[in-house]
Amino acid sequence: MFRIGNLSAEELREKYGTPLYVYDEVQIKANINEYKDNFKSKLYDTKIIYASKAFSSLYMYKLVKENNIGVDVVSGGELYGVIKEKIDPNNIHFHGNNKSEAEMDMAIGYKVKNIIVDNYDELKMWAKKTPSINYELNIMLRINVGVSAHTHEYIITAHPDSKFGYYIENEDIFDSIKLIDSTPNMKFMGFSTHIGSQIFDMRGFELTIEKLFELMKKTNRKIEYLCLGGGCGVKYTDADKPITLKEFSNILIDKVDNEIKRTGISISELSIEPGRSLVGNAGYQIYTINQMKKALNKTYYFIDGGMNDNIRPALYGALYSVDIANKIDEAKTEVVSIAGKCCESGDVLFKDVKLPKAEANDLLVVYTTGAYGYSMASNYNRLPRPAVVFVDGNNSRLAIKRETYEDLYKNDLD
Ligand code: LLP
Repeated sequence: MFRIGNLSAEELREKYGTPLYVYDEVQIKANINEYKDNFKSKLYDTKIIYASKAFSSLYMYKLVKENNIGVDVVSGGELYGVIKEKIDPNNIHFHGNNKSEAEMDMAIGYKVKNIIVDNYDELKMWAKKTPSINYELNIMLRINVGVSAHTHEYIITAHPDSKFGYYIENEDIFDSIKLIDSTPNMKFMGFSTHIGSQIFDMRGFELTIEKLFELMKKTNRKIEYLCLGGGCGVKYTDADKPITLKEFSNILIDKVDNEIKRTGISISELSIEPGRSLVGNAGYQIYTINQMKKALNKTYYFIDGGMNDNIRPALYGALYSVDIANKIDEAKTEVVSIAGKCCESGDVLFKDVKLPKAEANDLLVVYTTGAYGYSMASNYNRLPRPAVVFVDGNNSRLAIKRETYEDLYKNDLD
């Protein structure tokens, strides 16, 4: 029987039901520590900032706080969570394109320190507010370096026409620095970038670092801060060959150190914003297989969830590895497709996977679902979102309750 920590998939189903999201807390901490131990340099301070869009929950924010790393939020909703969890406002990095005025006021109300500004218009909105506030904002400009990292098309964020950030060739970067310098309670700290997600090939990052140092040179002033975003890929199937978090960290640090030596430009702090690589491999989904059916050329196993709890296969053609948790040692004799409950032909989560012959009530486990799974879940077909459980060795705790039918209608008015 497949286990997460010391708990079997069956025990977890008995206690919490299915479909279920399960996180291995030990793995999350190991990932954080691997980053902390290796993303270090003698030339500047370093910081790990968790990109909480990958998975946000109050308990996750608590782990972030306990492990003393920063957190990136991109919306009022994520901000609300970190405020509720009383995260130090100096450790909050407020990202996002098209921040609303209400979101800005919320951030100011909590004295959020680090603002990553996406475009000149946004900066002007902040500049109207800051003269009347009673603390200083650290302003970083998000730069679109124009590098396309090797990844799935929809996940690329840094091609020249991306909606994100200041394009590196544009003059408004310099106009923005001038505006920051002349506005009370704003301090220009430096640049932030994010070139894509699920990246295995580090050349995109190396080129990005070179481009950022060229930009820093052009500003002709001291830059305190650089952030290289997220992007480290994880292993979904055997076809993925990710590098370790140690290798990823070492390559970035070596490149930045070399650029400092080459250009003579120094920085005070370097950060990264891992999302997927911090929680991806710590997350699992457990479903119950209910029915099986033979179509003309295909066999389907039907599970009690679907695209509403993991949209990534339908949206990106994302692939995953799966097993039958209670038949983990049995021969994989069948080639089957795993389909969900949603009224949509695209709701086939895992196509033509090899599995043992299933019976009703077997448990399907899906690996590496910790990032962008629950956080992108929906209530399509009025399906309740699953519960989320954290396992630490022999112990488990409910982190997000399963939605009830009542929850689904709580905002409806008749
Ligand atoms: N920093 C910024 C500014 C970002 O936009 C992102 C992700 C990250 C950090 C974290 O990147 P990561 O380490 O997770 O690669 N929904 C897609 C992924 C979208 C990523 C968006 N930005 C998916 O399911 O694959």
